[in-house]
Amino acid sequence: MKDGGGQSIIRFEEVSKAFGPKVVLRGMSLEVKRGETLAIMGPSGIGKSVTLRHAVGLVQPDSGRVIVDDHDLSTISREDLRELRKRMGYLFQEGALINWLSVGENVALPLRENTDLADEVIREKVEEKLALVQLRGTYDLMPPELSGGMRKRVGLARALVTDPEIVFYDEPNTGLDPEISMSINHLIRDLAERLQITSIVVTHLVSCILVVADRVVLVDQGRVFAEGTPDEFIRSQDERVVRFLAKPYD
Ligand SMILES: Nc1ncnc2c1ncn2[C@@H]1O[C@H](COP(=O)(O)OP(=O)(O)OP(=O)(O)O)[C@@H](O)[C@H]1O
Ligand SMILES: [Mg+2]
Repeated sequence: MKDGGGQSIIRFEEVSKAFGPKVVLRGMSLEVKRGETLAIMGPSGIGKSVTLRHAVGLVQPDSGRVIVDDHDLSTISREDLRELRKRMGYLFQEGALINWLSVGENVALPLRENTDLADEVIREKVEEKLALVQLRGTYDLMPPELSGGMRKRVGLARALVTDPEIVFYDEPNTGLDPEISMSINHLIRDLAERLQITSIVVTHLVSCILVVADRVVLVDQGRVFAEGTPDEFIRSQDERVVRFLAKPYD
């Protein structure tokens, strides 16, 4: 949704995080408004995946706060966090499929964990999401039989299977050929618009942000250094932005 105002659903307030001696986030502040699609771009190893993991409460900040839907994730009760997570979908960068479960059972996992739906209903929902990511007829395949791009799309079907309100996409295009990559971008956009999903997309592709993003933040050295619409970025004269968009992974 393109509205400029709106209520924030996710807010990072000066979040800092180190793993041992390695400082990753240094006062990261950002805001995601309800219904918008925010893209996060930044060099490799800078903490983009770590940022997403903070937003779902898998990682706690050393200092600062992460607020999701008015809950401070450092003080939220276990039960409330569980309820909040039911409303979220997460496409993991590495796919994170379980190799000894079929494609269909991998996609079904969030439904088995979070709902009491009957097997036939689960099967139906899984088939529907597999069709959505152009993987009709793959229910019984095993993950080792899949190409990288197919694994990614199975991960995407799993992220969407509960019809979440907030979806985190960590590099949704990796390993996909250009045509499927573009169709996934349009799918992300379409879901966001049709179902008013709030989406956070980590990507290094300008082609992706042009299709999906309402707003983009560029991160480096543990914090946001530029923010704007995709259009503003591609027109930007700011030397850091220009350099970054030319070679986002330097
Ligand atoms: N649980 C952890 N323990 C120790 N170090 C970690 C942990 N998680 C992340 N890191 C480190 O934090 C840094 C940032 O990692 P992160 O995966 O967020 O980078 P990224 O920006 O997503 O990179 P890429 O674009 O390559 O995916 C890396 O140096 C990584 O090794
Ligand atoms: Mg990453």
